[in-house]
Amino acid sequence: MKHLMRNRANPHIRELLAQNGLSISKLIQPIFIIEGLKGEEAILGLDGNNKMGIDAGLKQIESDLEKAVRQFMLFSVPEKKGINADSGAQIVRAIKQRFGNDLHLWVDTCLCSSSVDGHCCIFHQDKKQRGIIDLEASLLALSDYALAYADAGADGIAPSDMMDGRVGAIRNILDKNAHVNIPIMSYSTKFASQFYGPFRGAANSTPSFGDRKQYQIDVRNKNDALGASQRCASEGADLLMLKPGMSSIDLLSPIKRQNKLPVGVYQVSGEYASLVLLAKEGLSDFDKALLETWQVFSRAGAQYIITYGARKALDLGLSKT
Ligand code: PBG
Repeated sequence: MKHLMRNRANPHIRELLAQNGLSISKLIQPIFIIEGLKGEEAILGLDGNNKMGIDAGLKQIESDLEKAVRQFMLFSVPEKKGINADSGAQIVRAIKQRFGNDLHLWVDTCLCSSSVDGHCCIFHQDKKQRGIIDLEASLLALSDYALAYADAGADGIAPSDMMDGRVGAIRNILDKNAHVNIPIMSYSTKFASQFYGPFRGAANSTPSFGDRKQYQIDVRNKNDALGASQRCASEGADLLMLKPGMSSIDLLSPIKRQNKLPVGVYQVSGEYASLVLLAKEGLSDFDKALLETWQVFSRAGAQYIITYGARKALDLGLSKT
């Protein structure tokens, strides 16, 4: 009889044989900075994460750096709605001026926090084409945002809108403006999902009409999921991403095989909140459950993990590298 339990019999042998690719350096901490907010406000479902004004945000980053977090994903929310990258760029500048290369700052690049209707794109204005995406205008706006963030000191651009052509358009404008070394982390396989709920409250980006199904992927469609990452790779993405991470884990390996690029996952707000709520009901241990999910991502081959719990990793016993 096979005796597989022999290799699990005690902690020493378990540690010896653990296939451990997980460390804090692989985790990215999202951070929400709201223009004009005084202090901070809790985000429902995302315990340990707040919406913050810039001062509170800088303090939070300082304490995260002490916990060995080096990678951040910035979500900036302007005070006034309207397509304009200035407020986000100012926040990027403030963070980079303060911390320089002590951190690596990815900037989520999308229109949904600033557009009046909460959509990730611009729709045609004329009555006849209502509800039809104006791709050209959307790509121009996204490129403007990306350039403004790069000029302000962003270390990486992370477009999350799902418009066809945006990675190519952003690469083009970055290269033309001496930002050849700034990588694009594309939200490349992003599904239309029910698991973004807590985020939309935090980023003030709930669509005022309709949903995002015109541009985000239908969860039933594997071909579209693979094709979307392939599209981003061919447009010049440097890193690919799968989102929501937990419910798309089956696609990680095929996307890696297909594109030969680094592929990571986003453990999205609803997934993280589900762990919070399980623990609140006494149905699981939050820290252990969180660690388990990261280990699963790592086992599946994720090269990076965006998670609302990155700042807990040191206390959970992860090593820095
Ligand atoms: C914006 C964006 C979203 C998320 C990341 N960037 C929301 C959405 O597409 O509706 C979701 C992140 C999360 O739920 O944690 N385009």
